[in-house]
Amino acid sequence: MEKILVTRRIPEKFKQRLELMGEVEMWDHHLTPMPREAFLEAAVDKTILLVTLSENIDRTLLEQAPHLKIIANMAVGYDNIDLVEAEQRNVVISNTPHVLSETTAELGFALMMAASRRLSEAIDYVQDGKWESWGPYLLAGKDIYRSKVGIYGMGEIGRAFARRLKGFNADILYHNRSRNTKAEHELGAFYTSFETLVRESDFIVCTAPSTQETRNKFNKDVFKMMRNDAIFVNIGRGDIVVEEDLVEALQSGEIAGCALDVVRDEPIRMDHPLLTLPNAIVTPHIGSATVLTRDQMIQTCVLNIEDVVQGKPARNQVLAK
Ligand code: GLV
Repeated sequence: MEKILVTRRIPEKFKQRLELMGEVEMWDHHLTPMPREAFLEAAVDKTILLVTLSENIDRTLLEQAPHLKIIANMAVGYDNIDLVEAEQRNVVISNTPHVLSETTAELGFALMMAASRRLSEAIDYVQDGKWESWGPYLLAGKDIYRSKVGIYGMGEIGRAFARRLKGFNADILYHNRSRNTKAEHELGAFYTSFETLVRESDFIVCTAPSTQETRNKFNKDVFKMMRNDAIFVNIGRGDIVVEEDLVEALQSGEIAGCALDVVRDEPIRMDHPLLTLPNAIVTPHIGSATVLTRDQMIQTCVLNIEDVVQGKPARNQVLAK
């Protein structure tokens, strides 16, 4: 009999599947994360955890929960988990790749389109009663059609994003740790240096995970290199961006706008300067948030847990590098 902790409310059908493997304790809240102390306490006797990005899986947790076999993370990213510590204790870590790539690319595309046509400004303009007449350059934006789009991070999400650009006749540049020949052949994406991508692109779209290499990558010097009419979109991780530098670049007109689904500290503070800028759009980390995809992510967690319970390797095991 397993002892399973689920740190957020999940649909009954998935809970029932977990119950076939043992006793399930679920933090029955949709939006409120488990307080850290309650999480540490609940994990003590558990063999399995199904967690979200809100839970910090560090040495303290792993030390305190010596019976763990698997931690299934309901996300493709795993920067909330200390993989080395987990591996030393033979705790399997799994994530949810593939099922969310198209959905996340779609949100990225929605953000790029919203920023390019200044949609949030336009909606506010109407709602604030400012719409008095038509103006030749009223809320004039920037075309994606025939533009140059630079994708930073050409993994599955980057490729799904690039595929959507085909209908826009855009030139696709990309920069990645390694070349992605599939993206080059299928989509005509050009591999460039990071500097060329940043200097030349109309739209710079970050889909990269948080790693030692990517943290703070978009900083003052990088924003300075961008075109003044560039739009920066981030659907990767917040800590890839130095937010003070981004705010400065937006305020000084060094770049034209940004649209971010992720920020450094989530949820964003209500007094964060990004929320005062008309040319910044911030959404609450909803890249993979469609009902179907969220179902598939939970299902992926359950499948990985079943693998381990049946003595098999978890199909989406993540290893420390
Ligand atoms: C979301 O950001 C994820 O990593 O799945």
